[in-house]
Amino acid sequence: MATTELIDQAIAASQYAHVPYSHFPIGAALVTKAGEVYTGCNIENASFGLTNCGERTAIFKAVSEGHKEFSELVVYGTSEQPISPCGACRQVMAEFFKKDMPVTLVSRNKTTVVMTVGELLPYSFTDLN
Ligand code: THU
Repeated sequence: MATTELIDQAIAASQYAHVPYSHFPIGAALVTKAGEVYTGCNIENASFGLTNCGERTAIFKAVSEGHKEFSELVVYGTSEQPISPCGACRQVMAEFFKKDMPVTLVSRNKTTVVMTVGELLPYSFTDLN
């Protein structure tokens, strides 16, 4: 499961969050099959609906550089309980991650919960067939 180092990378990524509206920084660290780490943060916009969540930033960075296979994801939020990814992020996870891939959710005080992608989004829409 997520090493302390990976959790620290997610926390470090949250320092770059652009959150002038919510003041709620999120950081994510995504590990490729080859062991490379892509980090991401949430990036908000004055037009609120254009906000990109931290998890999706990490996923899109990795996919845009040619990666399609991943082994784990850590998401850190400054919430009291381990952060709960939004529905849009769960759907994007279902697009790229295997159902049994672990996602470690981390709170402000580093309490963690590990859930699989299948647990985060059961009976997900994956393709048209
Ligand atoms: N947010 C994330 O980046 N990831 C999550 O898992 C939950 C929510 C962001 C979106 C927005 O910038 C802020 O948190 C408040 O909703």
